[in-house]
Amino acid sequence: MTACIIDGKAVAAGIRKDLAKKTTACSHTPVLAVVLVGENEASRIYVRNKKKAAAEVGIRCEVFEFSGSIGENALLSSIQDLNDDPHVDGIIVQLPLPPQINPQKVLSHINPGKDVDGFSPYNVGLLAEREESAVVAATPKGILKLLESTGESLEGKHVVIIGRSNIVGRPTALLLLNHDCTVTVTHSKTVNLSDTVRQADIVVAACGCPKIVKKDWIKPGAIIIDVGINRLEDGSLCGDVDFEEVKETASYITPVPGGVGPMTVAMLLENTLEAAQRHACCHDENCHCGRCGGN
Ligand code: GUN
Repeated sequence: MTACIIDGKAVAAGIRKDLAKKTTACSHTPVLAVVLVGENEASRIYVRNKKKAAAEVGIRCEVFEFSGSIGENALLSSIQDLNDDPHVDGIIVQLPLPPQINPQKVLSHINPGKDVDGFSPYNVGLLAEREESAVVAATPKGILKLLESTGESLEGKHVVIIGRSNIVGRPTALLLLNHDCTVTVTHSKTVNLSDTVRQADIVVAACGCPKIVKKDWIKPGAIIIDVGINRLEDGSLCGDVDFEEVKETASYITPVPGGVGPMTVAMLLENTLEAAQRHACCHDENCHCGRCGGN
């Protein structure tokens, strides 16, 4: 068997095209505020990509840059200003943050209605409670869309997730559980990892270990979602799955690059548009909805 390649680039392009139409129909231009702290090179590249993709679908992306030595209180105060600004629909704080800043404290300071990354404890709680109104983090949402793009039913499928991060592993487990999958979350301390992965109908690899998932870890016909983006010594990118081997036994597989990555940005933009639609009232100077910061 040779797997069908799930073309994340094409799926994401379709979603962005649809978003561009919807932003035109929105009562105001959606505004995404991106908070960028310090000089992390990868973060700068991610933010540049988000800004470019936002512009292409008619979302205004404003980047607020702070020195890597900023204190926690000063950063919280700037986030409060964005919470209070009725023109800002969505706020994200690019991670990682410098060591003097507690990321949980910062993320829990974002107004949940503007939390388009879905990282605040409020939105994670709604997701855990299977609440439809939860803002779901972009990568798990993108993974779900890619799985749905295969046309395969998710009900009762055994998903094995490799990695338990707050950004991918945990929220993906909750989201797929909410879609009636049976979910196992594995991590660096899991005993006999390959034996567990071999039981999966769907594998989500999100551990940041280049090509760790081998052909003999995979049940024939399984669906493979590779979230890893690792740079090899020769400068090339690879995922957490040994693509060339595993594609010989899987039914569907995402490539790296061009799989999950483009979906993450598209889903962030979708979350921003949805926040703008919820905040349409806040662009009226008489708004007292309480979500826009008490304008
Ligand atoms: N750092 C790595 N991935 C992400 C993401 O999806 N959102 C934010 N804010 N920071 C990240």
